[in-house]
Amino acid sequence: MLVLGIETSCDDTGVAVYDTEAGLKSHCLASQVELHALYGGVVPELAARDHVKLLMPLVEKALQEAEVPDGGVEGVAYTAGPGLSGALLVGASLGRALAWAWDVPALGVHHMEGHLLAPMLEDNPPQFPFVALLVSGGHTLLVDVKGIGRYQILGGTLDDAVGEAFDKTAKLLGLGYPGGPAIAKAAQSGNPERWRFPRPMTDRPGLDFSFSGLKTYVRNTVTPLELDESTIADVACAFQDAAVDTLMIKCRRALEQAGRRRLIVAGGVGANLLLRERLRAMTEENGKEVFYPRLEFCTDNGAMIAYAGCIRLAEGERQDLDFSVRPRWSLTELAPFSGAAA
Ligand code: KG4
Ligand code: ZN
Repeated sequence: MLVLGIETSCDDTGVAVYDTEAGLKSHCLASQVELHALYGGVVPELAARDHVKLLMPLVEKALQEAEVPDGGVEGVAYTAGPGLSGALLVGASLGRALAWAWDVPALGVHHMEGHLLAPMLEDNPPQFPFVALLVSGGHTLLVDVKGIGRYQILGGTLDDAVGEAFDKTAKLLGLGYPGGPAIAKAAQSGNPERWRFPRPMTDRPGLDFSFSGLKTYVRNTVTPLELDESTIADVACAFQDAAVDTLMIKCRRALEQAGRRRLIVAGGVGANLLLRERLRAMTEENGKEVFYPRLEFCTDNGAMIAYAGCIRLAEGERQDLDFSVRPRWSLTELAPFSGAAA
């Protein structure tokens, strides 16, 4: 089955073509980073309007690059949530309209299921069951994954998501938006010995996270200081170290608690190289394995939506014509999946 996938949940417009036989045939991305950087964060109304401009040309490009003949698309998958409602509606209405025009089925995909299944697009995909660490701008989740649609949340954040903590810390340091890559870059020249920031909630049992205290700790540290280049680098280094260490400690605990030997990491923060390195070392030490999507499929993209949608569409799941979007939507509300890929 050949499926067109559309992602518009936040500030990236992503489109891809996935085929059950041939795999990923094309993927295109248009980033709105420059537009939102002016405001220091995503402006929902501007994001939605930009998706309107960017989406259709990107659909045409993805179909062309995949060399899909007229009438070749057999299903359309679009992100139905969670995310910004205006932005989601752009992808959902175009996706639903195209499916109607082509007389093929459509399906609304859960954005986090897309992230969670992104490692399946790689050459050496993980087998179920595994623990998933989903770390993005809006989510910090540890999930026990028994199969597609069989998700048990092991832990989540009580306040800020880890990506949000990266973004807010970067803003505080004047590093701009998005904060994750900016902090990672600044940290490269930082002195790791200057500060040791707290690892929130690691000194007590449990798998929940809290990152707002770390953010406040950073603010209190930098307030009396002059923010020159080397101080910024040292703060970025200490913050990244604390955030990554916290995630690593909770992943180790989650693997033990759930009795799993495979870990997957997905979502924008999964592109952080220090995190990837530390998790690789931790899993190796414990006789376990870690899997990642390639860097460009950690952040939002159409490929993961095309894949997740294709798996479910191929098993007969369908979206009614009176579609809607779900800005808030828990992974645990998804229907278990009984197809062969589960
Ligand atoms: O998954 P994603 O692209 O969008 C959401 O669904 O939120 O994640 C975006 C988040 C942002 O907070 C961004 O700062 C963070 O991922 N991020 C990173 C890195 N690249 C992106 N955080 C740390 N290190 C990175 N290299
Ligand atoms: Zn995302």
